[in-house]
Amino acid sequence: MFTLLIDFGTPAYDDMVKLRDDILRKPLGLEFTPEYLAAEYDMMHLACYNERHELLGCLILAPQENGEIKMRQVAVREDCQRKGVGQLMVADSETIAREKGFSKMTMHARDTAIPFYKKLNYKKKGRAFTEVTIKHYKMEKELK
Ligand SMILES: CC(C)(COP(=O)(O)OP(=O)(O)OC[C@H]1O[C@@H](n2cnc3c(N)ncnc32)[C@H](O)[C@@H]1OP(=O)(O)O)[C@@H](O)C(=O)NCCC(=O)NCCS
Repeated sequence: MFTLLIDFGTPAYDDMVKLRDDILRKPLGLEFTPEYLAAEYDMMHLACYNERHELLGCLILAPQENGEIKMRQVAVREDCQRKGVGQLMVADSETIAREKGFSKMTMHARDTAIPFYKKLNYKKKGRAFTEVTIKHYKMEKELK
């Protein structure tokens, strides 16, 4: 498997939105609005594919201020979870972010995903808060 940066608004981007909807929104009874998606035009969209070019997972990287970049919307196809897809996407995201000069990766992690990010050396920061109806923690990692 391998990752690729995908341009906003392309058919490959639409496939990623569908995967994110299936994995991150529908289980919560929520859906994306056109305004929410339109705000993603200047973010980076990373997709992971297998050798048959089937989409296995995706995430978004959103540049912030002060050298920080935020990882968002990390989603792996349900039948492909726990097979290293997420780990590959996070590792490649860190490489991209470092190459672009960012010094810290941040995220709002779902409580259920904390063990995954901890394994990749992300640290919890502060107290739990609610986002999209569920418990989250801010997590971060210095990019050295
Ligand atoms: C969380 C998620 C992104 C992880 O991606 P993944 O491809 O399943 O994870 P990986 O196979 O790369 O896991 C890497 C390591 O993290 C750990 N890990 C992954 N998911 C875990 C979980 N749910 N609980 C505990 N440990 C976990 C494992 O130790 C794994 O190492 P191993 O191979 O030695 O077991 C993915 O399962 C997913 O999309 N979940 C549903 C949506 C979600 O919660 N997204 C994150 C929103 S913040």
